[in-house]
Amino acid sequence: MLKVVVCVSGSGTNLQAVIDGIQNGTIQNTQIVRVISNNKGAYALQRAKEHGIPSLCVSPKDYTNRAEFNLALLQAVEETSPDLIVLAGFLVVVPEEMIQRYRNRIINIHPSLIPSFCGTGYYGLRVHEAALERGVKLTGATVHFVDEGTDTGPILLQKAVEVKVGDTPQILQKRVMEEAEWKLLPQAIDEIARGQIQIGRRDG
Ligand code: GRF
Repeated sequence: MLKVVVCVSGSGTNLQAVIDGIQNGTIQNTQIVRVISNNKGAYALQRAKEHGIPSLCVSPKDYTNRAEFNLALLQAVEETSPDLIVLAGFLVVVPEEMIQRYRNRIINIHPSLIPSFCGTGYYGLRVHEAALERGVKLTGATVHFVDEGTDTGPILLQKAVEVKVGDTPQILQKRVMEEAEWKLLPQAIDEIARGQIQIGRRDG
């Protein structure tokens, strides 16, 4: 059984897709052992509660400095001895110690086709605004491993989504979620649970 911790900050629709995937068998042999939010008001916490999944809020506001927060976050993860950490709309810079300890065991979902519209500052609606400003005809979502950079880790899965005439950032965000994110994240977790994911990238 793959033990998964899901880290969230907001509405948790990606968390919901994972919960649904486990329930309907799209994701096999997987259990969410804890949901961690950095934000007390995150609706994702409510979703966890409704499904009887243990959850915890670790907010930077409750700690005097970043180092203490990072330690608390790492502890909240470690306590559950997870096999995989899933960042599902988690708006926190993952502590370096956590990245080192869980190398190639932390995945993130990003709402564009990396390496487009990613890196520092590209989160939430900003990603879709940038895609529309640039005028791309295709965007999408990417699931990647988390390394020390921002959206720079090895890519696991990508799915393209069409940009349509008249799209607003909100409309595009919704289409990317429905057509790509909510499918890709469950698929990545299932493939990891089955041992089907090959880590690596071409080095020239
Ligand atoms: C998603 O677009 C995800 O790709 C991004 O943040 C958003 C989270 O949405 N990183 P939700 O909290 O899963 O609804």
